[in-house]
Amino acid sequence: MKKFVTNGEGSALLKTPEKVYDIVKATVQATSLPVTVKIRIGWDSASVNACEVALAAEEAGCAALTVHGRTREQLYRPGVDYETIARVKDVLKIPVIANGDITSAEVACRVKKETACDGLMIARGAEGNPMLFREILAAFNGVDYQKPSSVELLSMAREHVQLLCMDKGEEIGVREARKHLAWYVKGIRGAAAFRNTVNNTWSLAKLLTLIDELEAEQLILNEE
Ligand SMILES: Cc1cc2nc3c(=O)[nH]c(=O)nc-3n(C[C@H](O)[C@H](O)[C@H](O)COP(=O)(O)O)c2cc1C
Repeated sequence: MKKFVTNGEGSALLKTPEKVYDIVKATVQATSLPVTVKIRIGWDSASVNACEVALAAEEAGCAALTVHGRTREQLYRPGVDYETIARVKDVLKIPVIANGDITSAEVACRVKKETACDGLMIARGAEGNPMLFREILAAFNGVDYQKPSSVELLSMAREHVQLLCMDKGEEIGVREARKHLAWYVKGIRGAAAFRNTVNNTWSLAKLLTLIDELEAEQLILNEE
């Protein structure tokens, strides 16, 4: 993010691998806990240096390293470079975790195979789809996976919203729940109207009622 990189922090550190080394070393020396690091592949396409930075982190005592296969300049634009992640995996001894655009079991299997990584990190793919982890695990284990129905999705959304409010209090919980609910209902019939109402709702009780109503509609649609 701009506020970090203008201070020389975050992805800006990719420009100074020796500083990455110093920071990781100091952190490792200050704790008995394992220290992990997450990097992008470089500042821009002309300066992809993930291997160099990753080696500096490993040398400094990093326990595992995640690589988001994009440059800083790329932000979130399409085109994750899994090849560079594979190169990082090749040169490091510590576990390497691949990250970027893993949104389905199919992609997860491909990335695992192409990079030989030790783990996957998933961010946006799990938004509104926390079952993605279960789906990927099933694919890795070669077992069948039944995608959740809209009713099951809404049931999960209900639990998610309740936990959010328990964790953060009703005011913040409801505000944060809106975006999650919008993700959960993507592609479900009646989603647009649901989203509009949710965005004008300030109480957990009302949110739960709206989820119940949409769920009832889905049950009727399923019967038709
Ligand atoms: C809501 C949100 C918050 C994030 N916060 C952080 C963060 O604090 N530190 C970080 O290194 N990356 C953060 N990221 C970036 C992700 O860890 C990840 O590298 C990026 O989203 C690409 O993975 P994806 O395609 O699975 O989303 C965040 C991403 C999202 C969507």
